[in-house]
Amino acid sequence: MKSGKTRRERVITDEVAGYITRVEELSYEVKVQDVMTRDVKVATPDMRMVEVLELFREFRISGAPVASKGELVGIISIEDLIRALRGGDMAAPVSEYMSSSVITVKAFHPVVEALKVFTQTRVGRLPVVDEFGKLVGIITKGDITRGLLRALQSTYQEEELRRYRASHLFDDIVSDRTSLILRYTVKARDFVRGGRASSSIKRALLRLGAHPQIARRCGIAVYEAEMNLIIHTTNGGTIRVEIEPHQIYMEAVDDGPGIENVDLAMQPGYSTAPEEIRELGFGAGMGLRNIQRCVDELSLESTPGVGTRLKMHIYLSEGREQLRERGDEIKSMTRQEMKQRSSRDDSSGDH
Ligand SMILES: Nc1ncnc2c1ncn2[C@@H]1O[C@H](COP(=O)(O)OP(=O)(O)OP(=O)(O)O)[C@@H](O)[C@H]1O
Ligand SMILES: [Mg+2]
Repeated sequence: MKSGKTRRERVITDEVAGYITRVEELSYEVKVQDVMTRDVKVATPDMRMVEVLELFREFRISGAPVASKGELVGIISIEDLIRALRGGDMAAPVSEYMSSSVITVKAFHPVVEALKVFTQTRVGRLPVVDEFGKLVGIITKGDITRGLLRALQSTYQEEELRRYRASHLFDDIVSDRTSLILRYTVKARDFVRGGRASSSIKRALLRLGAHPQIARRCGIAVYEAEMNLIIHTTNGGTIRVEIEPHQIYMEAVDDGPGIENVDLAMQPGYSTAPEEIRELGFGAGMGLRNIQRCVDELSLESTPGVGTRLKMHIYLSEGREQLRERGDEIKSMTRQEMKQRSSRDDSSGDH
């Protein structure tokens, strides 16, 4: 049995971290259903192309899904209309000009998944379906931009207040090592709840007074790890986050199937996601790459048939300062002071 392990260390500079913007963060939080257009203008396969022209003109749209008895069967766009016009074939039915391989997005997915599809393909709009594949809306890049701006405005004030109240929670706690551990169980194929762990973790960090940039980086890293558990594992797995004053440690563990070649898996664009998963908008092979951009240290260990462990560290600069100060303090103590201190520590300990 082969066992793979890869480790990459890279301390993220503030400049790089700056690229991971609040808007990117929101694209993981806001769902497709929050921004999509629900009132979808739909064409039918037996409609004439000339009727499509009327539909587009009346509602000032440039494309529409084609549905037959509620089933999504294709998509028709202005380009198809132009082809029919050129050929003087406007009496032809939609079924002759529509493209029947339709890429869709799920209503309950975060908008980042729709954005991924928009960047990978050249489509201008995506039909939105529910968990049963029923057409429930349509989404364009414009819908996403408007939705993200709205979310940006409304979440800001609310979170700012909460963050203030809960900030510096660790400040008044004295211990040799204070940490807060958050655990989440992630079920395989549970797309509906995908993103739950990552948004809970991010919110917790903000309320603990973490810098928004740090919370954002953790949120993205955990989201991608969470989706990998949902998509690629047999039984799902667990996510554990340990928050300490000087670092945040995040871990995603599962018991299979494991990864044959971890170096290959780390390469951007490499994905083993099957066709039906790609149709859902996943499987661009960018998840691990996204994680790498967000964390200071990443280690991926996997044994085929046994499982995978993804470890991620983010170091907090305040913690780094504190550690340095403590080091200096210890260096400048005299022998006598050290002895006094250790006897004091001993007598105050548990016996
Ligand atoms: N927990 C895991 N168990 C088994 N295989 C995994 C696991 N995590 C990642 N992989 C493998 O690593 C590959 C790359 O993962 P990565 O997250 O970068 O891309 P992806 O999940 O395929 O696509 P995307 O994240 O862009 O939707 C996956 O396609 C899969 O083969
Ligand atoms: Mg992934």
